[in-house]
Amino acid sequence: MLAIIGAMDEEIELLLGELQDREDLSFPGATLHRGVLDGVPVLLTRGGIGKVNAAMTTAWLLSQGASRVIFTGVAGGVHPELRVGDIVVSTDLVQHDVDVTALGYDRGTVPGEPPAWVADETLRALAREAAAEVEGVRVTEGRVASGDQFVASVGEVGRLWRDFGAACAEMEGAAVAQVCAKAGVPFVVIRSVSDTADHDAKVDYRTFMPLVARHAKQVVRGMLARL
Ligand code: ADE
Repeated sequence: MLAIIGAMDEEIELLLGELQDREDLSFPGATLHRGVLDGVPVLLTRGGIGKVNAAMTTAWLLSQGASRVIFTGVAGGVHPELRVGDIVVSTDLVQHDVDVTALGYDRGTVPGEPPAWVADETLRALAREAAAEVEGVRVTEGRVASGDQFVASVGEVGRLWRDFGAACAEMEGAAVAQVCAKAGVPFVVIRSVSDTADHDAKVDYRTFMPLVARHAKQVVRGMLARL
């Protein structure tokens, strides 16, 4: 079954309103909603903030039969050409806050894990096509850098760009990716840019988040229409 994880209440509310035959499943730390969205059986949930919540929610989804996972939410743009409102479809994902360099590992590498988790090509193609249909929105593909921090400085943006070649920064995607990869379940992360992760990030995030949440919802429905 297809699983959709939304980062934000705003976005989940928009999709929940359209979910038919809805059944709510309660787990410690997460509520999953099972139902039919645009004719497609889905599991839908809010993932919570940060890598731990994202990993836990993903594990619950997999336990309920999720066989493909789409994560949508907002991100801070890192690539210098990204602007608020643009959409990033993940090529691969890294955990930028992992640092085991003292033991000889590259920055971002979790010992025993790959240096990055690669998103599914088929889901990426669906996301690209669906995002291209959202009016007035530019779509790019790129690396998503996840960490347990809201990035709000030019210095940190520079580090994410230099060290990882990241397109955008957020707080959950790579955790979802890591759990899915362990289970052999295809995934993709779709992020609307709400800010450019600099000193204006806090204000921009609050201003633009509701708008770009609607973009994300349109992308998800465009993907469902193509399944
Ligand atoms: N999500 C949206 N903007 C973000 C930022 N600047 N850093 C981390 N996560 C974000």
